[in-house]
Amino acid sequence: MNTLAGKVAIVTGGASGIGRATALLFAREGARVVVADIDGAGAEATAAQAVPEGSAVAVRADVSRPEDCRRIVATAVDTFGGLHVLFNNAGIIRRTTALDLDVEEWDRVMAVNVRSVFLMCKYAVPAMTEGGSIVNTGSGWGLKGGGNAISYCASKAAVVNMTRALAIDHARAGIRVNSVNPGDTDTPMLRDEARQLGEDWAAFADDAADRPMGRAGTPDEIAQAVLFLAGDAASYVTGSALVVDGGGLA
Ligand code: NAI
Repeated sequence: MNTLAGKVAIVTGGASGIGRATALLFAREGARVVVADIDGAGAEATAAQAVPEGSAVAVRADVSRPEDCRRIVATAVDTFGGLHVLFNNAGIIRRTTALDLDVEEWDRVMAVNVRSVFLMCKYAVPAMTEGGSIVNTGSGWGLKGGGNAISYCASKAAVVNMTRALAIDHARAGIRVNSVNPGDTDTPMLRDEARQLGEDWAAFADDAADRPMGRAGTPDEIAQAVLFLAGDAASYVTGSALVVDGGGLA
């Protein structure tokens, strides 16, 4: 119940899916949480659901923008007095091949999925004066690739390797940096992917090649892995890529 007692955490993309589940779990585990999302109303809704009451605040922010990232970190320090945990989770996907992807869409995916990790770390690391833990969100597709998602696969591979670079650079400051790499997880993003591909959800969710367990993961199952990496139980784990995919990479 108190894995993160006394800790201050930021969760980006906390209005939905994996980010919302993780923000709520962090709060239940004793953290005070800044829920940041470009969807301000969704971030407010997550903060309002957090137990105990008052343990989370919402910030409307676009994590591809430097000034917004600076403001997210400042909110943690000004509201809760410091920063110990950063979950870089906000992300987007475009389900197309190179042939159908606009240059602007390529740039947007890279800005939201990759530049955001650089920016958030740039501002968060100096605020982690007592050490800390950063968890970046890769993907099974950042490790093995996948079809119809060229910008997404490139962006998530970048996140996995940036994680290793960050881990090395900041280890002596007592800051651990790891990636969590989910397989298909039942969130609004995944359901939107099925729509983008014109596929029926039931058939999409039952894809045997990607899902040996016969189902997609749940946001709570990813959140539990993030909690492990965020907390002191993972004190000698840094630079790692933790896969949580029900055997999809096996
Ligand atoms: P989701 O779409 O349910 O939630 C993503 C959240 O990020 C949304 O609340 C959205 O408003 C926010 N967001 C998007 N752009 C933003 C921006 N520029 N600034 C701030 N917030 C922004 O998606 P889900 O599934 O919860 O995904 C979370 C992370 O997990 C993403 O990085 C995704 O790529 C990754 N992931 C998801 C998988 C899945 O199957 N759902 C599989 C592997 C990785």
